[in-house]
Amino acid sequence: MKKLVLSPIALVLALAGCGGPHDDALVFAVGGTPSELRVWQEIVAEFEAETGIPVRIRRQPPDSTQQLQTLIVSLGSGQRDPDVFMMDVAWVGLFTASGWCHPIENVETDAFFERVLDLVDRHEGVLMALPVYMDGGLLYYRTDLLEKYGYDGPPQTYDELIEMCLTVQEGERTENPSFFGYVWQGAQYEGLVCNFLEFAGKEGGFLAPSGPEPRPIMLDRPINREALQLMRDLIWEYKISPPSTYTEMREEEARMFFQEGDALFQRNWPYAWSDHQSEGSPVRGKVGVARLPAMEAGQDVSTLGGWHIGISAFSNKQEEAQQFVAYVTSKDTLKKMVLELGWNPGRTDLYDDEDILERAPHFPQLREIFEHAKPRPLVPYYNQLSSIAQQRLSACLANRVSPEEALAIAQEEIETLVRTYGDTERLPEHARAAAE
Ligand code: GLC
Repeated sequence: MKKLVLSPIALVLALAGCGGPHDDALVFAVGGTPSELRVWQEIVAEFEAETGIPVRIRRQPPDSTQQLQTLIVSLGSGQRDPDVFMMDVAWVGLFTASGWCHPIENVETDAFFERVLDLVDRHEGVLMALPVYMDGGLLYYRTDLLEKYGYDGPPQTYDELIEMCLTVQEGERTENPSFFGYVWQGAQYEGLVCNFLEFAGKEGGFLAPSGPEPRPIMLDRPINREALQLMRDLIWEYKISPPSTYTEMREEEARMFFQEGDALFQRNWPYAWSDHQSEGSPVRGKVGVARLPAMEAGQDVSTLGGWHIGISAFSNKQEEAQQFVAYVTSKDTLKKMVLELGWNPGRTDLYDDEDILERAPHFPQLREIFEHAKPRPLVPYYNQLSSIAQQRLSACLANRVSPEEALAIAQEEIETLVRTYGDTERLPEHARAAAE
């Protein structure tokens, strides 16, 4: 057998993943489901063909919290790549405040969701990122099952949801013992915080609802305790959400559970729609989409989600990176993403596009949801805040602590964090106004 002998330099290069034909390529860090990555590959290939600029996709782990960790390693240490990356809307504040983003130049911003640009993407008035797609929590429901059990529409309140789930679950279990009423994202990761904010409704969540600005972060409040109690009860008391909710239920787990035909309702982001409607999906043609329920009808809230594109301040390929960002956020590219993935573009000028409306008639309703969606706190230390919330909410869902204990401990930890990092005062004036 031949021994492979590498010179020290070659060894360093090989370990660093360098060398090879794409040495000069623009590195684009992006994650997602297999179908999303396939579309990204197509987009990159089209960009390369049009501009002659080679691009290498650096595949990121699927969930938001893990992606953040890998990007913090590269950007926090000032590495040259990735040159361009996708950021969860929840971390744009951290990235811009840390000086990791280079301003986006020469992009006409009129067509984008103005409130979101103000809230998230402009840092001290300078455009640092652009929304590629928007997310907001939605309720998916089985139209055939509602009809079978005599309901004329999806629930508007959680009481109605519980009642429907108990009835349908009991009926369906005679044929399908794995059937559950409601699946949502309860695993310990960013998605859990998004779900919690929705259960907590308009007045609940991180920021105290009223009082002088800046509003303090106040998680330990009756309204939040009630929301957490409800989340816990769905699993342990009513048993209409499976025990796997808190061990493993992220977006894809919930989507697959529902798609297999094993649930009546599902909370998920808009992307799940096109998978449910795809060929071979057991629930194809039997799915409706509605606003989430609320404690009181009409008080529903969707968390503002979505992914934004940014350019690294450490990239030495600024010009190519700017071209790539302009290409990705162009009307044509975003339209392709909508048609192929059912994503909701960060541009408003696609919401009345006829080709899109034909495929997704619920699109205008979504635009309305995004316009009013609730942002996560725009503080630069949001990732630490979220990680405290994730840990404590999860302990409660696992039935290890009561909602009262969970939120009281979280509040103490948050106060230590705020003493270290400052408070919401750090929010620029325009962002505070837009957060209302
Ligand atoms: C989606 C949303 C993102 C959110 C994440 C949580 O990707 O777009 O904003 O943080 O889900 O899992």
